[in-house]
Amino acid sequence: MKRILKWIFRIVLVLFILAFVFVFVAYWRSTNDCDRLTAAQGDKMKAIVYCDYGVANLKLAEIAKPTPTDDQILVKVHAASVNPLDWHFIEGTPKIMRAMGVGLRKPKDTRLGVDFAGTVETVGKNVTQFKAGDEVFGGRDGAFAEYVCPRADRAVTLKPANITFEQAASINIAGITALQAVRDKGKVQPGQKVLINGASGGVGTFAVQIAKSFGADVTGVCSTRNLDMVRSLGADHVIDYTKEDFTKSGQRYDLILDNVGTQPLSGFRRALQPKGICVMIGGGGPNDGGLIGPLGRPVKALLLSPFISQKMGMLMAELNKKDLTILADLMQSGKVTPVIDRTYPLSQIAEAIRYLEQGHARGKVVITVE
Ligand SMILES: NC(=O)c1ccc[n+]([C@@H]2O[C@H](COP(=O)([O-])OP(=O)(O)OC[C@H]3O[C@@H](n4cnc5c(N)ncnc54)[C@H](OP(=O)(O)O)[C@@H]3O)[C@@H](O)[C@H]2O)c1
Repeated sequence: MKRILKWIFRIVLVLFILAFVFVFVAYWRSTNDCDRLTAAQGDKMKAIVYCDYGVANLKLAEIAKPTPTDDQILVKVHAASVNPLDWHFIEGTPKIMRAMGVGLRKPKDTRLGVDFAGTVETVGKNVTQFKAGDEVFGGRDGAFAEYVCPRADRAVTLKPANITFEQAASINIAGITALQAVRDKGKVQPGQKVLINGASGGVGTFAVQIAKSFGADVTGVCSTRNLDMVRSLGADHVIDYTKEDFTKSGQRYDLILDNVGTQPLSGFRRALQPKGICVMIGGGGPNDGGLIGPLGRPVKALLLSPFISQKMGMLMAELNKKDLTILADLMQSGKVTPVIDRTYPLSQIAEAIRYLEQGHARGKVVITVE
């Protein structure tokens, strides 16, 4: 018995050492294409790159201008918008992201930004939906740049004429998230009571308007300075979270959309109807939540779900052309209008990210690219 235990101990020790060496080597071999990117020859464009994690490492660099493939369009970007997703990549947090392919020591992909709006310059030979001169908006990695090349059949669509490039650039991630939370996860019906926690931010300002367009009775939760703004977006009721805890008011909602993650799950359960739904969209700052960041709460909700009548789950928004086009129609009809908080030039991207990281944006933060 003693001999068996000794061998088990030796095997565990060897496995532990091997794992340690593997992680150590992987960490130090983790690198990126930063040098190659900035040394590229030919036509150039300005773009934001980050060779190392951290806002201080954001650089405005000259890199190769992209050339569209047969299925892509080349878009001259006029505006882009900033999302918490961008600071997750910039900071490399939650740290588990780094182990999941984002880059252990350095970011693997050194380009940033997703949401853009601009004018089509050229189209690939298979593209029939767009032509040079079209004004478009959508999502494509590397949007903090003078040019992007999205595939024509992916998340890109025509910009409604009644909104600006800055407004159009603010739609993609926040608008699609709000739409999919209300319609797909929330399955909202006319007359249902919907509470939006974090109603004044990027996702929240879209969610209030979209839930109203579905005929819901909407309650927006925000701080004192944003009460009037959230009311002006169509919210039927507003709750100032600095003065009142909505989970203790006695009101019960059919749907809660949570953009903030500050309430315990028991609080949400108290504020939900017995068959109510809570959609966890996000929450937390760059250094909150340790190794797994905002993922802890959805995991807890998953473990709880077999034992409760209410539905609680996380949303992972999926960017696509169909939903972008629905959002464009909502803008066109005036049912939804993007709310822009601040606008920064591309060269001041670090200031824009630092502002968003504080977690108190009023609507969207936009980057102008000229
Ligand atoms: N799951 C997905 O697919 C997905 C997609 C997009 C975004 N997200 C996540 O969703 C979250 C929200 O994104 P966002 O773009 O809306 O962020 P944001 O623009 O930074 O908005 C944050 C908002 O939260 C509000 N807030 C802060 N503390 C609050 C509290 N205790 N109670 C109520 N409101 C509070 C702030 O309002 P005040 O200034 O009034 O405090 C601010 O308006 C982020 O965590 C993001 O990562 C997830």
